[in-house]
Amino acid sequence: MALDALLSRCRAWKHRHLLGMKDLSKEDILRVLSVAEACDSLRDEHPLKGRRLFNFFVEPSTRTKTSFALAARRLGGEVIDFSPSASSLTKGESLKDTARTIESMGVTFTVIRHGASGAPHFLSRLVESSVINAGDGANEHPTQALLDLLTMKMRLGRVTGLKVALVGDIAHSRVARSNLWALKKLGNDVTLVGPPTLVPRDLDAAITSDLDRALPRQDVVMMLRLQLERMQSGLFPSAAEYVRFFGLTRERVAALKKGAIIMHPGPMNRGLEISAEAADHPRSVVLHQVANGVLVRMAVLLLLSQVAR
Ligand code: CP
Repeated sequence: MALDALLSRCRAWKHRHLLGMKDLSKEDILRVLSVAEACDSLRDEHPLKGRRLFNFFVEPSTRTKTSFALAARRLGGEVIDFSPSASSLTKGESLKDTARTIESMGVTFTVIRHGASGAPHFLSRLVESSVINAGDGANEHPTQALLDLLTMKMRLGRVTGLKVALVGDIAHSRVARSNLWALKKLGNDVTLVGPPTLVPRDLDAAITSDLDRALPRQDVVMMLRLQLERMQSGLFPSAAEYVRFFGLTRERVAALKKGAIIMHPGPMNRGLEISAEAADHPRSVVLHQVANGVLVRMAVLLLLSQVAR
């Protein structure tokens, strides 16, 4: 698709920030996916020339941070990298002062990852640039949900009418929340599977702790990382017990419905929530998810650039 046609698809976009899937309509979500698919054909075109992206990651990241940088550069933009441990955050400089300091050098997009839920929302009220949530605490990770949807669309041909199981540590998962809001808006049937200690009861989805009963019905099985670093002890008896009831073992892969796909946002705890056989199985789309992260983030930057100051 020619760049002009692609940009004309972006013109209806109204949001200056991307803070969560809760804020997007079904039409917004489908627009991001359509622009992301078209971004794959862009070659040597630089619609973001002269624009800068501040990769403000206060928590670690491999996939998200790298793919935002690649996305901005593929569109001709510049990237300002950030390392919290080598920054003046260590001297007590605030989040607001750090963001505004970098912004004063000319920034169009501030991509923030932070351990506190709501940090991107807070920042969006204080800065001039477009704020993109790259993961805030256990709240949301909207670009992850968008890349997951793009992967479902490419692998299964649709993003509506699917049966999707989100399995594991729902309580600490921003990926689970963003996917849940997005999948429901698009008319999918979502089941949360996990031990009662790790599955909040107040989310709008079916809940079960019987993985073996739920698995054969699903089109998509999305395994979630056990976020051991965010847990108090005692949320499950032992790793061996967790694998027995909730791990995606070789035997459970064999019970999947024909055509079903295995997803995981990464990073994976191999041998815990997902076996090596499941992670590397032909049904696993984990690396396709990662690759689609670049397309989705290109789409998000192009869309927000229509409204950015
Ligand atoms: N899925 C995800 O957010 O991975 P990173 O923590 O590596 O960015």
